[in-house]
Amino acid sequence: MYSSSETSALEIICIGGGVSGLYFAIKAAEFATVTIYTKDELPKSNSYHAKGGIAAPFGDNDSTSYHIHDTLIAGAGLCNEKAVTYMIQNSLRCIEDLETLGTEFNKDENLQFDLSREGGHSHNRIVHIKDETGKEVINRLIHLARNHPNIKIKEHHFVLELITEDNSVIGASILNTQTLSIENHYAEIVVLATGGAGNLYTFNTNPPSATGDGYALANRAGATMMNMEFVQFHPTMLYLPNREDNILISEAVRGAGAQLKDSKVIQFMYKYHTMGSLAPRDIVARSMLKEMQHEGSDFLYLDATSLGEKKLQDDFPFIYNACKKYDIDSSKEMIRVVPAAHYICGGVATDIDAKTSVNRLYAIGEVACTGVHGANRLASNSLLEGIVFADAAADSIKNMKIPKLKKSVLNKYYHEEPQDIEQVISTVSQSDIQQLMWNNLGIVRNPTAMKSAENQLNIWRQTLVSEIKIQGRSYQLNELLNMVETAMLITSFALNRTENKGTHYAEEE
Ligand code: SIN
Repeated sequence: MYSSSETSALEIICIGGGVSGLYFAIKAAEFATVTIYTKDELPKSNSYHAKGGIAAPFGDNDSTSYHIHDTLIAGAGLCNEKAVTYMIQNSLRCIEDLETLGTEFNKDENLQFDLSREGGHSHNRIVHIKDETGKEVINRLIHLARNHPNIKIKEHHFVLELITEDNSVIGASILNTQTLSIENHYAEIVVLATGGAGNLYTFNTNPPSATGDGYALANRAGATMMNMEFVQFHPTMLYLPNREDNILISEAVRGAGAQLKDSKVIQFMYKYHTMGSLAPRDIVARSMLKEMQHEGSDFLYLDATSLGEKKLQDDFPFIYNACKKYDIDSSKEMIRVVPAAHYICGGVATDIDAKTSVNRLYAIGEVACTGVHGANRLASNSLLEGIVFADAAADSIKNMKIPKLKKSVLNKYYHEEPQDIEQVISTVSQSDIQQLMWNNLGIVRNPTAMKSAENQLNIWRQTLVSEIKIQGRSYQLNELLNMVETAMLITSFALNRTENKGTHYAEEE
């Protein structure tokens, strides 16, 4: 299939344009040509919405070993210690590299990083840019990628399948969602950087594009998957009764002193954990659910009034203004909040170089399971994981002798002309999937509910496969199939886990 005689530049496909995809592309473009495919327009991605920041042990009294320790504790015994150590040992270098690339993090008067605090961290160690770190980092990386001669960015392109031969990936079959043409793009390396799947749940903090595409693609290509049952729920999404928007109230607001309260203005979290409102996320989310059930309410409250108007406006301008938009003055009144699906801790299993079990296929960012999060991710370790392992992937590819694809493979070049096709409306709806996952695979689970979800998802999958046979060029149908298949992965991993760990919590019946 491969020949080493070809001399043209190494060709890499990167699927996804969040922080890990963009950072990878910039690093890999030093020695390869990289095409980034995104189904939406940039900058839409999960990382763009990251409000907290990037965790790293920059503080005077902090150390690599404290950060490693906190990460392992959050991960509830299921972290890969080697991967955690690698990530944290490389954190300072990679964040400094982002600075060199032009990202301007908040600094104090001594030009030291202004470090904030989030749940589960023993020290202040979140490097940030106000409360919009993801947006600022992404905007800088997009600027660099768009202006790089070796990077091509193709927006509105949805990857239908990875093309494989003999357990090696050799390209991707891609639907142009505007013209509905399909094209096979062959390349020596394919990198999945597709982000997460929060949109599988009714309440979630993710953008609508987080539909689990990468998990489904990798699974269909035969990649080993890991830890898919561990869905992290963030305790504080702004509660909007009609779900007009997914506005995350960063944990950094609690880190700065805001407290979770019930309708009687009581700080209920100390009943459950000595760290109160800053206890690990899984514990806070479960405790909130209990309190909500007890109160018969769909939400609880975050009291940030003690921070005062100036601090809220200066340090959390996005959150302050987002609340204002919905007539909430967070400096004077409590904010209604609800726990929401936030992050998939598992994913496509990778080694420390971000290699998957399929040759030439790499996975980075949320879609990957490097093992650093175990059963529960420590806050603000995700952008960190994204950049450190994107860097590791680029480095590994650079140092590998990769045989070029043979002409015979490239000759299979395939293109289907655009067509005017009437879109099939599926009988499976996104909100049905979200409701099923929220009710049956949510914060608290039970075997009967999980089993019944498994049956329903199987039926929906069969329906979608039949519908796609009629109209394979439908972006909507293929995205729904990815959602259902990712939901099936979460469900089957959850059914197979026999003990409660981290974010997976099932009640006995
Ligand atoms: C937050 O700011 O609360 C989210 C940070 C994270 O999930 O890592």
